[in-house]
Amino acid sequence: MTENQDQQWGKYSADYNSGAWVKDAVEAPFLEGHFKSFAQKALDRGKPWKALDIGCGMGRYTIRLLQAGASYVLASDADVDMVSGAKKETEQYLIGRSGPGTPKADFYVCSAAHLTSISRIEEGTFDLAISIYVLCNLPSTKDVKQALREISKLLRPGGTFIFYEPHIVEYMTMTNSTGHVEYLPKDDGTEYKYFEDEGKPQTLRIRMNSGNPIEITNRFYTLSFWVTSLLEVGFQISQFHEPHGNPKDFPSDAPSYMRYYAECPSAMVWVCTNVPQ
Ligand SMILES: C[S@@+](CC[C@H](N)C(=O)[O-])C[C@H]1O[C@@H](n2cnc3c(N)ncnc32)[C@H](O)[C@@H]1O
Repeated sequence: MTENQDQQWGKYSADYNSGAWVKDAVEAPFLEGHFKSFAQKALDRGKPWKALDIGCGMGRYTIRLLQAGASYVLASDADVDMVSGAKKETEQYLIGRSGPGTPKADFYVCSAAHLTSISRIEEGTFDLAISIYVLCNLPSTKDVKQALREISKLLRPGGTFIFYEPHIVEYMTMTNSTGHVEYLPKDDGTEYKYFEDEGKPQTLRIRMNSGNPIEITNRFYTLSFWVTSLLEVGFQISQFHEPHGNPKDFPSDAPSYMRYYAECPSAMVWVCTNVPQ
């Protein structure tokens, strides 16, 4: 992986913070529900819980993990600007929350494929790891597998790994369909092929709430790759979701492209249990 690929997001850190409609209306409520039920189970066990936010971006889910009750979050991202933005946002959230039992967060610049190189990180101690739209940034099946191995090492046995990836249907069909999220066609004008083009760079344009479009490169990995790799690394697949929006929940001034998210799956969410071999 080149420095360039790891750090393509930094130039968008200010826009990223403004959010994208689908993140606010579909993704965040869906994930918050999962964090809440995870927190409830930890509460029933009577134990504090620690989380990893891998590819934390500007820290939107780092803060939500703390809000859900994590006693500690280790947040990492390959992009230095994203990490400093996440740190700033989280410190802002934690202001005025000092005292016994105050949650804590640490931030590191690190690729998902090299997490165990973070100094002082304790393997086998995290209860929950999340990775939201991050693994699609990794340039090869080898890198993704390496990241899965690292995550498994850091989670305790029985720990949970939740990851969110763009839906394969979105990859295959979203060329100029909504004006909100758009995958640009290949340079030679041909369409992307599911098996043939696995792991190949694809350019995605997203219109952020700021009104600015951002353009990034990511990849898709086939369903068979995910299933095989997760099992190989020692994850048990506990749940698989295809969250989508519900028009009834949409605000009345919602832009027209929102309908797309009620009719077409836009994300795949894997919930896995760590069963180290
Ligand atoms: C779509 S953003 C998601 C950010 C955050 N998870 C969220 O949902 O708001 C993708 C993030 O992955 C980070 N990233 C890209 N390549 C990475 C890598 N190899 N390791 C860790 N993070 C990476 C980017 O810098 C960016 O912050």
